[in-house]
Amino acid sequence: MDNDILKVLYSQDEINEACQRLGKQIQTAYQDKFPVVIGVLKGATFFMSDIVRATDTYMQIDFIDVSSYHGGTQSSGDVELVTDITTDVSGRDVVIVEDIVDTGQTLKFLLDMLKGRGAKSIKVCSLLDKPAGRTVDAHADYIGFEVPNEFVVGYGLDYDEKYRNLPYIGVLKPEIYTNN
Ligand code: PRP
Ligand code: MN
Ligand code: MG
Repeated sequence: MDNDILKVLYSQDEINEACQRLGKQIQTAYQDKFPVVIGVLKGATFFMSDIVRATDTYMQIDFIDVSSYHGGTQSSGDVELVTDITTDVSGRDVVIVEDIVDTGQTLKFLLDMLKGRGAKSIKVCSLLDKPAGRTVDAHADYIGFEVPNEFVVGYGLDYDEKYRNLPYIGVLKPEIYTNN
């Protein structure tokens, strides 16, 4: 698997430092509150697990599964709700945890949905932000790294459901996705 990687963008140590930094920011912002922190499956799994443990404050956790990529390297633009949260977010402070905001379509879908359900406030924490990919108006409030306009994998991010379990974030060799 390591062999398929052209270059490492963020090492395990760099990711860990970003998680600690963002965790402290969230801790400060929510120390007198009881937010619902929603991890977006499946990409945000590892980031969610690290970020909530870097935050020493009371919080509820939940997960939502939405999908838009359907396996390729381009967002299909149609976001599908696969599995919903079980928490009633009406009147609640919500923090969405994402691995990456690229076109912004997934995030916009989630923001519209949670606003529609009457969330009191919604903030977004994303490990990666790819501003060059943006096609709709949606942004994260807490960001780990701004990534270049390259297709990245690892630490939850997949290509065709592979590479999520790499402990770092890297760029795939071009032949991996051009041969498929
Ligand atoms: C990826 C990624 C984000 C979203 C970002 O998820 O994990 O959730 O796409 O892209 P966007 O800003 O262009 O919408 P994907 O739909 O591939 O599902 P996954 O997390 O299960 O891989
Ligand atoms: Mn995702
Ligand atoms: Mg994906």
